[in-house]
Amino acid sequence: MTAILPPSERLWWKHPMDRQETLWIAIAFVWCMIMFAMMVGWHFFGKQNLSTETYKVDPAKYAERAEAFVAKYTVRKETDQEIPVVSAPEGSDVYMIGRLWNWWPILELEKGKTYKLHLTSMDYNHGFSLQPTNINIQVVPGYEHVIKITPNESGTFSIVCNEYCGIGHHEMVGRLYVK
Ligand code: CUA
Repeated sequence: MTAILPPSERLWWKHPMDRQETLWIAIAFVWCMIMFAMMVGWHFFGKQNLSTETYKVDPAKYAERAEAFVAKYTVRKETDQEIPVVSAPEGSDVYMIGRLWNWWPILELEKGKTYKLHLTSMDYNHGFSLQPTNINIQVVPGYEHVIKITPNESGTFSIVCNEYCGIGHHEMVGRLYVK
């Protein structure tokens, strides 16, 4: 019998399950459980997973903290938009703002040192994608994401917005230096 034809008996769900079908359901269920356990397990065993803490935040208050941070640690300015390059001491809280359509400021971090990165958006949803690594963080307005980071590679990294945010989405790029 093919599936194109209607079932000969209308109450098909009252029929006993075929052994093969039961087997496939069991396999799928076990696989679901493995994947579910991996979500938690990979957090501990996966090398690039970042644990983010998220808090509700008033954007204006966040901006105040971010501006104070930038004012204190700016070392120079870069790009046509005169974006400050901020170099903060080891272990400190570093701030970044995503908004239409840039990432502000540019961070300069040191390899092997740990920082607490704070991220938020001033307007819409943005996506923080650190290139060429595989680090992606959703940046949601009204929420502050705090991520403990220890750069393990030096170089210049790009930050690309990976959440469509309007006409300037493709121009929403930032930079992060690791010395
Ligand atoms: Cu911000 Cu796309």
